[in-house]
Amino acid sequence: MAQTQRKILVTSALPYANGSIHLGHMLEHIQTDIWVRFQKMRGHVCTAVCADDAHGTAIMIKAEQNGITSEELIEGVRQEHMKDFNDFLIGYDNYHSTHSEENRDISTSIYKALRDNGKISVRSIVQAYDPEKEMFLADRFIKGTCPKCKAEDQYGDNCEVCSATYTPMEMINPRSVYSGATPIEKESEHYFFKLPDFQDFLAKWTRSGTLQDQVANKLAEWLDSGLQEWDISRDAPYFGFEIPDAPGKYFYVWLDAPIGYMASFQNLCDRTEGLNFEDYWAKDSDAELYHFIGKDIINFHALFWPAMLDCAGYRTPTKVNAHGYVTVNGTKMSKSRGTFIKARTYLNHLDPQYLRYYFAAKLNASVDDIDLNLEDFIQRVNSDVVGKVVNIASRTASFITKKFDGQLATEVSENDMIQSFIDAGDVIAEHFESREYGKAVREIMRLADVANTYIADQAPWVLAKEEATLPKVQEVCTVALNLFSVLATYLKPVMPNMVADAEAFLNKALTWDNRSELLFGHTINKFKPLMGRIEQKQIDDMIEEGKVEAAAEAASKAPSVTNVQQETELSKEPLEAEINFDDFAKVDLRIALIAKAEHVEKANKLLKLTLDIGGETRTVFSGIKSAYKPEDLEGKYTVMVANLAPRKMKFGLSEGMVLAAGPGGEEIYLLEPHAGAKPGQRVM
Ligand code: MSP
Ligand code: ZN
Repeated sequence: MAQTQRKILVTSALPYANGSIHLGHMLEHIQTDIWVRFQKMRGHVCTAVCADDAHGTAIMIKAEQNGITSEELIEGVRQEHMKDFNDFLIGYDNYHSTHSEENRDISTSIYKALRDNGKISVRSIVQAYDPEKEMFLADRFIKGTCPKCKAEDQYGDNCEVCSATYTPMEMINPRSVYSGATPIEKESEHYFFKLPDFQDFLAKWTRSGTLQDQVANKLAEWLDSGLQEWDISRDAPYFGFEIPDAPGKYFYVWLDAPIGYMASFQNLCDRTEGLNFEDYWAKDSDAELYHFIGKDIINFHALFWPAMLDCAGYRTPTKVNAHGYVTVNGTKMSKSRGTFIKARTYLNHLDPQYLRYYFAAKLNASVDDIDLNLEDFIQRVNSDVVGKVVNIASRTASFITKKFDGQLATEVSENDMIQSFIDAGDVIAEHFESREYGKAVREIMRLADVANTYIADQAPWVLAKEEATLPKVQEVCTVALNLFSVLATYLKPVMPNMVADAEAFLNKALTWDNRSELLFGHTINKFKPLMGRIEQKQIDDMIEEGKVEAAAEAASKAPSVTNVQQETELSKEPLEAEINFDDFAKVDLRIALIAKAEHVEKANKLLKLTLDIGGETRTVFSGIKSAYKPEDLEGKYTVMVANLAPRKMKFGLSEGMVLAAGPGGEEIYLLEPHAGAKPGQRVM
């Protein structure tokens, strides 16, 4: 084999153990699985592990509502998740749980290492507390009336109606979503990981080629605005691991979740000959480590996680690969529209390989969102997989079986074309390696077009009518089936079952390296249809089932807390995705008079602007210090986004944004309106 054998460990993010797997999750697991199958097929030692993320308040409460223990809940969900992945042909080498002995051991030892290195601080904080349920409440578990616009039934941290941000205690009539009781304020000791101590380490690490550029740039913003200590403890009652030497305090779910990657791998090592934990996790390991995650959980994997690993004496990831979000028909998956599609609902109607192919065709190495457009899905799968790839075999195989007793020709005159298909494997491999699956698929389909054109030009069905041209039929079909065999090789990571059937028919086990071993004088087996077309009805039925499910869920009055996501420490801040015109039209641009401009103490980039938008003033922090002196700005007009949700920044609340352009540094130019513009005028 040409290249050296690599040792690779791969993970996908650990799904929460309180809900079903849906097609959003599936994008990630399909992306991971294609990469892993590709690496295995290339002869590398590649191990893929995952697990359920089983801790936290949401899981504890859900179990309580279902009248079962948390342990029972998470084991049931784990079985369901494993079956979903299995049926989607996702082949993890181990699927474990964060609620495991391995995870308790490793989490405890990592925590102790952080503590012994002086990276844990302890201090009291005041939080909202449910006096009836006797537990602390994260902001998401409190609802009440917005103090600003008086909208009812808003969460404890911000208003979905007017975008105001506040603390739960500032709300009108705040209530615990668990008991309905009015929360009180209560103090307790919390344990913090001193993330700011890793500022320099992280500034370097995030720029070391481990992250996509887009991601590294986003993190640079967080790093620039200063890191905060990370609260890693929660008070009882909490479903998780108790912190050593701190009775009644538990590790916050996100502390032990990524350690679950190690725990799942440890569990696999313990029962696998030749697989050694240290080889993969020791600081000087020569193995590669890849995390596949969604864009919403980047901060946990690219800030907290490398800092923890490094501090505790482990290696850090080779790459953190973030992907975008799945939308269906251009918008967020929606229960009422039936497009919040569970993995199982999909499987009840469609072959998983259709979706694997479609996602592969759309995936690239960026964090852009991926749209599952159902019309395009049908059209693309039918025309590419059935119409192009399968067609090569289905148009030629029967001649070989019927007229030549399954025997392929011993030589052909089209060796150059076959060779060009084999050569294309190098660039296709590069595309798979760099997660540019869309490019790989396009190249495969380009080749499929070449093969089909060849078959159409040769028209073996015409040649087969004359005894004299029968040898030519055997030759043409032999060429076509060799081309098919090479293409099937390339599609094997994407559509493993279809290619397994193709292997049975071709009578050859396909690997990346043996694609150059041609099938001449070789016997093939009878061809059976490899894959049928998607029918519109299958899609309609799936959507209908989704709607029925959603309605049933709503009717069973699933208590509101089951819909509450796990709390997260930093707000989930996804990277920009495409927006449609309606979204754009919501942006309220107004002429603003810069009434005051001031320096901000300790801020390197920011100026504080007081903007007059006609009877209303707004405070905006803007990163234009390198280009403007405050005194030059006062009295000038510019344009601001007036309906941007206020953002809490380190230096205060920013209530909008001014528009500027330029490469940066001294060259930033604030937009200037036309002469005669009045403060507050709407800009089109
Ligand atoms: N439990 C945490 C991850 C811990 S990893 C140490 C979590 N779980 S999750 O179930 O909410 O999400 C699991 C993965 O699915 C994440 O990578 C997330 O980005 C991804 N997705 C969830 N919904 C998604 C879409 N709609 N589209 C694409 N990926 C999405 O976060
Ligand atoms: Zn409000």
